Amino acid sequence: MTSNVIELVTKELEQLEASNTYKHEVPLQSAQDGVVQVGGRKAVMLASNNYLGLSNHAAVKAAAIRGIREYGFGVASVRFICGTQDIHIALEKKIAKFLGTEDAILFSSCWAANEAFFASLTNEKMGMETYRDVIYSDRLNHASIIDGQRLCRAETTDRKIYAHADTDGLARALEEDRGKDYRLRIIATDGVFSMEGDLAPLDRLVEIAGKYGAILFVDDSHGVGVCGRSGRGTPEARGVHGKIDVLTGTLGKAIGGAAGGYISGRKELIAFMRQKARTYIFSNSLPPPIVFGADAAFALLMKDRSIVKKLAANTAYFREQIAALGFRILAGEHPIVPVMVGEASVAQEMSRALLKAGVYIRGLWYPVVPKGEARLRAQISAALGKKDIDRALGAFEKVGKKMNLI
Ligand SMILES: Cc1ncc(COP(=O)(O)O)c(C=O)c1O
Repeated sequence: MTSNVIELVTKELEQLEASNTYKHEVPLQSAQDGVVQVGGRKAVMLASNNYLGLSNHAAVKAAAIRGIREYGFGVASVRFICGTQDIHIALEKKIAKFLGTEDAILFSSCWAANEAFFASLTNEKMGMETYRDVIYSDRLNHASIIDGQRLCRAETTDRKIYAHADTDGLARALEEDRGKDYRLRIIATDGVFSMEGDLAPLDRLVEIAGKYGAILFVDDSHGVGVCGRSGRGTPEARGVHGKIDVLTGTLGKAIGGAAGGYISGRKELIAFMRQKARTYIFSNSLPPPIVFGADAAFALLMKDRSIVKKLAANTAYFREQIAALGFRILAGEHPIVPVMVGEASVAQEMSRALLKAGVYIRGLWYPVVPKGEARLRAQISAALGKKDIDRALGAFEKVGKKMNLI
């Protein structure tokens, strides 16, 4: 290789190490679960998005195996050529029903769904020679929402960022733009913000979108299966179930944790996506074991509320007990529980010490979160028994005292 690429990337990698932002991967030696095997020892898992504990659930695994037996391992095609099986359509209907929308469309990931949504809507002329669209986006939105918007052409799309959860600021921006001749106005937000575990003010956003004739787009990847009394997500928790124009989400977290994503909404919009979404048209259809596994996960959720209840009870217990130990957490109701420790070095040392004490948890620090607000992000799961949570709390107490944090 004559290029200087190796020299350049090596320098960049060294820079990542020097700035403490190199992402080191730690291989698990077991299935994802409430307790995992890592580094040759057992550890309580407090870092996964396996909120409902379905990643290693017997019914979900049995369904995935049935999927392979009955429909094969893969489809070797995109949807519109020969990659649509009846199970894809059935899962789309099930997702739509669960979310209270007219229809849904599957993608290989929620990343692909988010990219598809913004680009396919705003880059299409749809019979108009000249037009402008505008997107208002929460400052803390997920990278996939940001990248989806980056695919929108600057010549036809204005992108505006509003301060995190600042509904007054958003309303002001829409008011200022009222007289402008925009074709589409889109408000984009996460349902749950993954660094803080806070829920978007969807009730207010529904009002604002209605008042200004905007489309409300919500990525509920951390909300679906988790929030609301029946796990229907952040809209249910905020009292606006069935009132969100466009909901996207992942099947890679609470819903079995494998892979896949969706857009759900009005049937015309979903039909449009099937024709125009490039990450759908030019990318393989979801494999049968994943479709079967996700279908089983939704079936479990729809059958009874005990898993969602257990997750809520585990979350409430952990939040109460970790605060009682003297740790500062960000208040909230979501199983993402940020334990604030201040400096990056403290978060790093603490997560290492906790792993030695049998708890797997990851730290977040600048530039992912603001300077001085380093944290350990605990993520609670229904796969955890009370004994597991108590073991984790015991380790927090021991390490916290040793490090003079409590
Ligand atoms: C809010 C949000 N949206 C989208 C994604 C991407 O989901 P997927 O893994 O299905 O691409 C994630 C994953 O981290 C996420 O947290």
